[in-house]
Amino acid sequence: ATAPLIDPFARRISYLRVSVTDRCDFRCLYCMAEDMTFLPKAEILSLEELDRLCSAFVRMGVRKLRLTGGEPLVRRNVMSLVRNLSRHLGSGALDELTVTTNGSQLAKHAAELAACGVKRINVSIDTLDRAKFAAITRWGRLEQVLEGVAAAKAAGLAIKINAVALKGVNDDEIDRMIAWCGDEGFDLVLIEVMPLGELGGDARLDQYLPLSMVRAKIQQSWTLDESDHKTGGPARYYTVRETGQRLGFITPLTHNFCESCNRVRLTCTGTLYMCLGQEDAADLRQPLRATDDDGQLDTAIRAAIARKPKGHDFIIDRRRRTAAVSRHMSVTGG
Ligand code: GTP
Ligand code: 5AD
Ligand code: SF4
Repeated sequence: ATAPLIDPFARRISYLRVSVTDRCDFRCLYCMAEDMTFLPKAEILSLEELDRLCSAFVRMGVRKLRLTGGEPLVRRNVMSLVRNLSRHLGSGALDELTVTTNGSQLAKHAAELAACGVKRINVSIDTLDRAKFAAITRWGRLEQVLEGVAAAKAAGLAIKINAVALKGVNDDEIDRMIAWCGDEGFDLVLIEVMPLGELGGDARLDQYLPLSMVRAKIQQSWTLDESDHKTGGPARYYTVRETGQRLGFITPLTHNFCESCNRVRLTCTGTLYMCLGQEDAADLRQPLRATDDDGQLDTAIRAAIARKPKGHDFIIDRRRRTAAVSRHMSVTGG
């Protein structure tokens, strides 16, 4: 094996998030604009090219691969990529192969994901209210997602529900979500909304909810025991004593976790973002396509990691009214 990827702040890069498509069948308010222009097909890496890129990272010590989007499961033939990548699980080179999905196509794919060695998946559900769900996703059907989640559960996949905390939208539902996840045996992770892309006037800024406040409110009804559960992701976990399920908090705004960052993000065009909260990126498509020999690619990846910034510059500031990062969240899938 080659030398591991270590960034200038001595952080080891062991987690690659791969956006396999910029497309999505939903348009979550905080993730996309309503009228998105999607990339032309010629810009997008083939599944074989994505496999080669991922495999280069695995060779350089990446132990965890997460497919994201857009919505990863709307990419045609995405399961063939999952199947091919699962060879790295078989060889012991990879600890985890997984997806973050909106759940809409999960009923179709859950069993095959499990058969490929995927052990757990993250599903985005911000509300259990049908009308609110349709409003947040702009047209998504909650029932379809819940059917997908049920299929995933039946296939034996462990499930983590991601909910972005939105003031005035779902903050009145957190107890209900904790209870539902407790009943279903799912982990729940609450996420602070991050200012990327168009902020929709002040709407996104007004919806920001510091999770320290949410946690205090939760603790009026539930007992949270600190947990040292670690996934390699940014959440800090508690166990809800009454349900036995885990509850995690992702707090880029109130409690920065950049110091322990272990990840980089690859887009479906072969652009590598070294930080979710920065514009800087490296083009890996050029070295990928230049030759079949991986030497140039490896050099380009190492050069990119050497540029990884210390952290993000997200702030929620009504006076600024502009996002720290102009690209939409859907470019990197979070
Ligand atoms: P686990 O493997 O289950 O820990 O998942 P994860 O949290 O790594 O991935 P997921 O796709 O579920 O992401 C949940 C949320 O965390 C999304 O809103 C991501 O944008 C956010 N997130 C993940 N990594 C980072 C990061 O490095 N910085 C910031 N600011 N947010 C991140
Ligand atoms: N802020 C925080 N989380 C976001 N996600 C999408 N956009 C944002 C944002 N602006 C979440 C989705 C999904 C995960 C990949 O990222 O809800 O669960
Ligand atoms: Fe689609 Fe996920 Fe973005 Fe929602 S958060 S628009 S489901 S990619």
